[in-house]
Amino acid sequence: MIIRPARNVLGAVRLPGDKSISHRYAMLGAIAEGKTRITNFSTGADCASTLNCARQLGCEVIRTPEGAVEISGMQPLRQPSDSLDCGNSGSTMRMLSGILAGHDFESRLRGDESLSRRPMGRIMEPLRQMGAKITAAANERPPLCIRGAGLRSIDYRMPVASAQVKSAVLFAGLFAHGETSVEEPFRTRDHSEQALRAFGAELSRTRNRVTIAGGQKLHAIQGFVPGDISSAAFFLCAAALFADSNLVIEDLLLNPTRATLLDLLRALGARISVINLEEQHGELVGTIKLEAGPLKGATISGGDSVALIDELPVLAAIAPYTQDGIEIRDARELRVKESDRIALVARNLRAMGAECEEREDGLRVPGNQQLHGAEIDSGGDHRIAMAFAVAALRATGDTLIHGADAAKISFPEFFQMMESVVER
Ligand code: S3P
Repeated sequence: MIIRPARNVLGAVRLPGDKSISHRYAMLGAIAEGKTRITNFSTGADCASTLNCARQLGCEVIRTPEGAVEISGMQPLRQPSDSLDCGNSGSTMRMLSGILAGHDFESRLRGDESLSRRPMGRIMEPLRQMGAKITAAANERPPLCIRGAGLRSIDYRMPVASAQVKSAVLFAGLFAHGETSVEEPFRTRDHSEQALRAFGAELSRTRNRVTIAGGQKLHAIQGFVPGDISSAAFFLCAAALFADSNLVIEDLLLNPTRATLLDLLRALGARISVINLEEQHGELVGTIKLEAGPLKGATISGGDSVALIDELPVLAAIAPYTQDGIEIRDARELRVKESDRIALVARNLRAMGAECEEREDGLRVPGNQQLHGAEIDSGGDHRIAMAFAVAALRATGDTLIHGADAAKISFPEFFQMMESVVER
């Protein structure tokens, strides 16, 4: 994919449904009583992996011509005849493991080359404590083999702040005897809590600790998935780069555990207004407008690094165009995402002529730098491909992105939709 420099970003977009919420609605729909119908379901390959796993587990799953997804729930799920293919999706493997831990059969979960390198010990530990038998390849890497049933409740303090781990434990908690609690070191996205409630379960939260009682039955919903804010990040950051930009994003997910990007862009100098706001199944949805201002700089650390974890690559990619640069700390988790995102961001920034300092847990990218077009390596990582497509819009000369089709993992329409708001 070749990206030519742009003059401005102008217009309005409406984005496919949020990846995190789509996974959860699909998984809970698979174990709920009745037929769940989900509109604006994510168009990404990751969520298609979750739907395929639901099919392999015996659920009827239909995509209607209007793009809605219908899932007929089944309880219990059926033992799959083949291993469950999670593709590139860590969310599918980790969260589904929580559900499979509650089922009295053996199942295997495998992934592609990238997923096969990602750590699974973080879900194996609590699910084993609950009584599931789980084995993995060397170093607790996929494939996983899970034999579940007869779970006991636990009170688990997560060593890493991960919404996927929290979700796996809460989903397993549905099948356990007694009350399961999970405590997170920093607040992570709360879509599982919202979705469980939408499907009829009760949960309680005190500070960073969530508790769920086992044995609760779920009921199908008619759900709408708001536009993916992590996909919106590429558009918002692109618009933030041009003084005369004006970008409207309709029906966007504005859940406070996901909307830290808006606070950060405001702190950098962008003007963002929320035009309307409503709640659907516990999720805030709204229309926002961004107009650029001169971009200052920022340091991102602690809980903000957790909340912005998926947006950090694109923030690092636009950092050279800010006045004072961006420093990212406490983001070691970036090294075990779909790629080592710290190393790849640093390498690609340097390819475009930027200076940057790579650290074990983050990066420091000085501001006031002009980038030039270059050859970019996505490393097969969707967010790296899209982040550097954004950086390329303000560079001098064309940029060639190798492995740009990785965008299909979360956002197949990305390049086409970006073209619709870019002025040259
Ligand atoms: C996700 C949680 C995050 C995030 C991922 C989606 C989720 O991962 O990076 O893209 O839907 O719960 P971790 O749970 O590993 O932090």
